[in-house]
Amino acid sequence: MEPEVIPAILVKSREDLLRRIGQVRGLVREIQIDIMDGIFVPNKTIGIDGLHDLPEALYEFHWMVKDPERWIEKIRGPNMHLVHVETITTLDAVEAAVKKVGGRLGLAINPETPLEKLLPFVPKAERVLVMTVRPGFSGQKYIYEMEHKVRKLRELFPALDIEVDGGVNNETVSHAYSSGANLLAAASAIFAQEDIKGAIARLKERALKGCSHETH
Ligand code: DX5
Repeated sequence: MEPEVIPAILVKSREDLLRRIGQVRGLVREIQIDIMDGIFVPNKTIGIDGLHDLPEALYEFHWMVKDPERWIEKIRGPNMHLVHVETITTLDAVEAAVKKVGGRLGLAINPETPLEKLLPFVPKAERVLVMTVRPGFSGQKYIYEMEHKVRKLRELFPALDIEVDGGVNNETVSHAYSSGANLLAAASAIFAQEDIKGAIARLKERALKGCSHETH
Protein backbone atom coordinates (compact mmCIF):
# COMPACT_ATOMS: atom_id res chain seq x y z
CA MET A 1 0.00 0.00 0.00
CA GLU A 2 1.18 3.54 -0.72
CA PRO A 3 2.32 5.48 2.34
CA GLU A 4 0.22 8.52 3.15
CA VAL A 5 1.24 11.29 5.51
CA ILE A 6 -1.45 12.82 7.73
CA PRO A 7 -0.55 16.07 9.49
CA ALA A 8 -1.79 16.01 13.10
CA ILE A 9 -3.01 19.24 14.67
CA LEU A 10 -3.04 19.55 18.44
CA VAL A 11 -4.00 23.07 19.44
CA LYS A 12 -5.91 24.96 22.08
CA SER A 13 -7.31 27.83 20.05
CA ARG A 14 -9.35 28.21 16.89
CA GLU A 15 -6.87 30.74 15.59
CA ASP A 16 -4.06 28.15 15.77
CA LEU A 17 -6.30 25.48 14.30
CA LEU A 18 -7.16 27.59 11.26
CA ARG A 19 -3.56 28.62 10.78
CA ARG A 20 -2.34 25.03 10.77
CA ILE A 21 -5.14 23.84 8.50
CA GLY A 22 -4.11 26.62 6.13
CA GLN A 23 -0.50 25.40 6.19
CA VAL A 24 -1.34 21.88 5.01
CA ARG A 25 -4.67 22.04 3.18
CA GLY A 26 -4.15 21.15 -0.45
CA LEU A 27 -0.89 19.35 0.31
CA VAL A 28 -2.47 16.22 1.78
CA ARG A 29 -5.64 14.18 1.39
CA GLU A 30 -6.57 14.20 5.06
CA ILE A 31 -5.83 16.30 8.14
CA GLN A 32 -5.97 14.96 11.68
CA ILE A 33 -7.44 17.09 14.44
CA ASP A 34 -6.60 15.94 17.96
CA ILE A 35 -9.29 16.48 20.53
CA MET A 36 -8.54 15.96 24.22
CA ASP A 37 -10.94 16.55 27.10
CA GLY A 38 -8.54 16.58 30.05
CA ILE A 39 -10.27 13.44 31.37
CA PHE A 40 -9.26 10.60 29.07
CA VAL A 41 -5.82 12.18 28.73
CA PRO A 42 -4.05 14.73 30.95
CA ASN A 43 -4.29 17.54 28.43
CA LYS A 44 -7.08 19.65 26.98
CA THR A 45 -7.28 20.96 23.43
CA ILE A 46 -9.71 23.08 21.49
CA GLY A 47 -13.27 21.95 22.22
CA ILE A 48 -16.43 21.56 20.15
CA ASP A 49 -17.02 25.32 20.07
CA GLY A 50 -13.89 25.83 17.99
CA LEU A 51 -14.74 23.22 15.36
CA HIS A 52 -17.63 24.88 13.49
CA ASP A 53 -17.34 25.94 9.84
CA LEU A 54 -13.88 24.58 9.15
CA PRO A 55 -12.34 25.12 5.71
CA GLU A 56 -13.45 22.43 3.30
CA ALA A 57 -11.17 19.41 3.66
CA LEU A 58 -11.30 15.81 4.77
CA TYR A 59 -10.68 15.66 8.49
CA GLU A 60 -9.79 12.83 10.76
CA PHE A 61 -10.92 13.53 14.30
CA HIS A 62 -8.87 11.70 16.90
CA TRP A 63 -11.20 11.65 19.88
CA MET A 64 -9.16 11.36 23.07
CA VAL A 65 -12.26 11.96 25.13
CA LYS A 66 -14.67 10.22 27.44
CA ASP A 67 -18.05 9.44 25.79
CA PRO A 68 -16.88 10.14 22.22
CA GLU A 69 -20.39 9.76 20.76
CA ARG A 70 -21.47 12.97 22.49
CA TRP A 71 -18.76 14.85 20.56
CA ILE A 72 -19.13 13.05 17.23
CA GLU A 73 -22.83 13.84 16.91
CA LYS A 74 -21.95 17.54 16.67
CA ILE A 75 -19.63 17.18 13.64
CA ARG A 76 -21.44 16.75 10.32
CA GLY A 77 -19.79 15.48 7.17
CA PRO A 78 -17.79 12.65 5.67
CA ASN A 79 -14.98 12.83 8.22
CA MET A 80 -13.14 9.97 9.85
CA HIS A 81 -13.87 9.57 13.55
CA LEU A 82 -11.21 7.68 15.47
CA VAL A 83 -12.56 6.40 18.74
CA HIS A 84 -10.38 4.89 21.45
CA VAL A 85 -11.14 1.30 22.27
CA GLU A 86 -10.41 2.19 25.91
CA THR A 87 -13.46 4.49 25.94
CA ILE A 88 -16.07 2.01 24.70
CA THR A 89 -17.64 -1.22 25.83
CA THR A 90 -19.77 -1.73 22.74
CA LEU A 91 -19.68 0.11 19.45
CA ASP A 92 -23.42 0.76 19.30
CA ALA A 93 -23.49 4.38 20.49
CA VAL A 94 -20.52 5.55 18.42
CA GLU A 95 -21.72 3.68 15.34
CA ALA A 96 -25.09 5.41 15.63
CA ALA A 97 -23.47 8.83 16.09
CA VAL A 98 -21.10 8.37 13.15
CA LYS A 99 -23.99 7.24 10.96
CA LYS A 100 -26.14 10.19 12.00
CA VAL A 101 -23.51 12.73 10.94
CA GLY A 102 -22.51 10.91 7.74
CA GLY A 103 -19.00 10.12 8.94
CA ARG A 104 -16.73 7.08 8.90
CA LEU A 105 -15.66 5.00 11.86
CA GLY A 106 -12.12 4.18 12.93
CA LEU A 107 -10.60 2.79 16.11
CA ALA A 108 -7.55 3.82 18.10
CA ILE A 109 -5.56 1.85 20.65
CA ASN A 110 -3.21 3.09 23.37
CA PRO A 111 0.26 1.59 23.92
CA GLU A 112 -0.66 -0.20 27.14
CA THR A 113 -3.84 -1.78 25.75
CA PRO A 114 -3.50 -5.32 24.41
CA LEU A 115 -4.43 -5.83 20.80
CA GLU A 116 -6.94 -8.52 21.81
CA LYS A 117 -9.19 -5.81 23.19
CA LEU A 118 -9.41 -4.21 19.75
CA LEU A 119 -9.63 -7.22 17.45
CA PRO A 120 -13.34 -8.05 17.86
CA PHE A 121 -14.27 -4.50 16.76
CA VAL A 122 -11.99 -4.25 13.74
CA PRO A 123 -14.42 -5.67 11.14
CA LYS A 124 -16.77 -2.77 11.90
CA ALA A 125 -14.11 -0.10 11.38
CA GLU A 126 -12.60 1.39 8.23
CA ARG A 127 -9.31 2.23 9.89
CA VAL A 128 -7.23 1.42 12.93
CA LEU A 129 -4.84 3.82 14.63
CA VAL A 130 -2.03 2.29 16.66
CA MET A 131 -0.68 4.85 19.12
CA THR A 132 3.11 4.82 19.23
CA VAL A 133 3.23 7.21 22.20
CA ARG A 134 0.94 7.62 25.19
CA PRO A 135 -1.59 10.17 23.97
CA GLY A 136 -1.55 13.67 25.39
CA PHE A 137 1.36 15.58 23.94
CA SER A 138 3.37 16.11 20.79
CA GLY A 139 7.10 15.58 20.62
CA GLN A 140 7.34 12.26 22.50
CA LYS A 141 9.52 9.30 21.54
CA TYR A 142 8.20 6.66 19.19
CA ILE A 143 7.66 3.33 20.98
CA TYR A 144 9.10 0.73 18.64
CA GLU A 145 7.46 -2.14 20.54
CA MET A 146 4.07 -1.06 19.18
CA GLU A 147 5.07 -2.36 15.76
CA HIS A 148 4.12 -5.85 16.86
CA LYS A 149 0.50 -4.65 16.91
CA VAL A 150 0.87 -3.19 13.44
CA ARG A 151 2.41 -6.41 12.08
CA LYS A 152 -0.31 -8.56 13.59
CA LEU A 153 -3.09 -6.30 12.26
CA ARG A 154 -1.54 -6.29 8.79
CA GLU A 155 -1.32 -10.09 8.86
CA LEU A 156 -4.95 -10.45 9.92
CA PHE A 157 -6.39 -7.63 7.78
CA PRO A 158 -4.32 -7.23 4.59
CA ALA A 159 -6.51 -4.46 3.13
CA LEU A 160 -7.15 -2.45 6.29
CA ASP A 161 -5.98 1.15 6.62
CA ILE A 162 -3.51 1.04 9.50
CA GLU A 163 -2.24 4.30 10.93
CA VAL A 164 0.50 5.06 13.44
CA ASP A 165 0.61 8.24 15.47
CA GLY A 166 3.22 9.58 17.89
CA GLY A 167 6.93 10.15 17.40
CA VAL A 168 6.76 9.64 13.65
CA ASN A 169 9.73 11.45 12.10
CA ASN A 170 12.27 11.05 9.30
CA GLU A 171 13.92 8.20 11.15
CA THR A 172 10.99 6.24 12.57
CA VAL A 173 8.68 6.60 9.57
CA SER A 174 10.41 3.87 7.60
CA HIS A 175 10.11 1.44 10.53
CA ALA A 176 6.42 2.19 10.87
CA TYR A 177 5.80 1.77 7.16
CA SER A 178 7.79 -1.42 6.80
CA SER A 179 5.97 -2.96 9.75
CA GLY A 180 2.70 -2.50 7.84
CA ALA A 181 1.29 0.95 8.59
CA ASN A 182 0.19 2.81 5.45
CA LEU A 183 -1.08 5.97 7.18
CA LEU A 184 1.54 8.00 9.00
CA ALA A 185 0.37 10.79 11.31
CA ALA A 186 2.89 13.38 12.41
CA ALA A 187 2.74 16.70 14.22
CA SER A 188 6.19 18.01 15.15
CA ALA A 189 7.93 16.39 12.17
CA ILE A 190 5.74 18.65 10.02
CA PHE A 191 4.69 21.74 11.96
CA ALA A 192 8.00 22.33 13.73
CA GLN A 193 9.71 22.56 10.33
CA GLU A 194 10.13 25.70 8.30
CA ASP A 195 9.38 24.03 4.99
CA ILE A 196 6.07 22.28 5.65
CA LYS A 197 5.60 21.03 2.11
CA GLY A 198 9.15 19.69 2.03
CA ALA A 199 8.69 18.01 5.42
CA ILE A 200 5.61 16.12 4.21
CA ALA A 201 7.35 15.05 0.99
CA ARG A 202 10.42 13.94 2.92
CA LEU A 203 8.43 11.79 5.35
CA LYS A 204 6.84 9.98 2.43
CA GLU A 205 10.16 9.59 0.68
CA ARG A 206 11.81 8.23 3.84
CA ALA A 207 8.96 5.78 4.38
CA LEU A 208 9.50 4.38 0.89
CA LYS A 209 13.27 4.22 1.23
CA GLY A 210 13.04 1.56 3.92
CA CYS A 211 15.19 1.18 6.98
CA SER A 212 17.81 -1.45 6.20
CA HIS A 213 20.73 0.82 7.13
CA GLU A 214 19.27 2.01 10.41
CA THR A 215 19.45 0.41 13.80
CA HIS A 216 17.37 0.93 16.89
C1 DX5 B 1 -0.62 12.32 20.76
C2 DX5 B 1 -1.39 12.86 19.57
C3 DX5 B 1 -0.51 12.88 18.37
C4 DX5 B 1 0.63 13.80 18.59
C5 DX5 B 1 1.71 13.48 17.63
O1 DX5 B 1 -1.12 12.72 21.91
O2 DX5 B 1 -2.47 12.06 19.29
O3 DX5 B 1 -1.18 13.17 17.18
O4 DX5 B 1 0.24 15.12 18.48
O5 DX5 B 1 2.75 14.38 17.81
P1 DX5 B 1 4.20 14.08 17.29
O6 DX5 B 1 4.11 13.72 15.85
O7 DX5 B 1 4.94 15.34 17.55
O8 DX5 B 1 4.71 12.94 18.12
